[in-house]
Amino acid sequence: MYDGGKIITGIIIGLALLTFPIWYNLGAAPKPPDIKLPVKEKQCVQPKAYMRTKHMQVLDLWRDSVVRVAQRSYVAFNGVKYDMSLQNTCMSADCHAKKTEFCDQCHNYTGVVPYCWDCHIEPKEKPKEKPKEKH
Ligand code: HEC
Ligand code: HEC
Repeated sequence: MYDGGKIITGIIIGLALLTFPIWYNLGAAPKPPDIKLPVKEKQCVQPKAYMRTKHMQVLDLWRDSVVRVAQRSYVAFNGVKYDMSLQNTCMSADCHAKKTEFCDQCHNYTGVVPYCWDCHIEPKEKPKEKPKEKH
């Protein structure tokens, strides 16, 4: 009566279909961002958790202060004073000097494309070494 082979084959196919979304995603999931924090500076203008979720608001505030009220000085949460500048403060050599290893890591992952660098200058990074050309 029973065909053991067919039942087992059926169960295997059924399980494969049921779990398809799990193993399909294992292969397809993009790598989580690999963020490189500054080596020299250990503290941003606000605590890390705040910067993670609110850095865009901080940047907007900085831009509006500089452009609209000509106020360039920012007092950080710990009392340290900073020049409100995307290029000269946030992305200075001691801080987030490598856009590709910091900002871009997260933005590519989350599909965010800030237009700031249409105008602002991003830090110069050494291009990856090209293999030597043969003559
Ligand atoms: C259309 C060109 C343009 C775009 C796009 C732009 N900015 Fe600006 N931004 C300026 C100009 C011009 C100033 C004034 C520079 C000054 O007075 O130092 C400025 C000033 C600023 C400042 C303060 C001064 C400084 O040197 O950083 C911040 C912060 C800033 N922008 C952030 C941003 C952010 C964040 C974005 C993206 C969301 C952005 N800007 C997009 C043109 C632009
Ligand atoms: C930990 C991850 C992460 C890092 C690192 C990061 N960002 Fe973001 N950023 C985000 C996310 C997520 C958003 C989108 C938030 C939203 O849409 O509400 C965003 C949005 C922004 C926006 C607003 C863009 C828009 O069009 O609304 C600006 C400006 C911005 N980031 C600037 C920067 C700069 C400059 C750096 C590097 C110095 C940086 N971010 C690093 C995660 C990150």
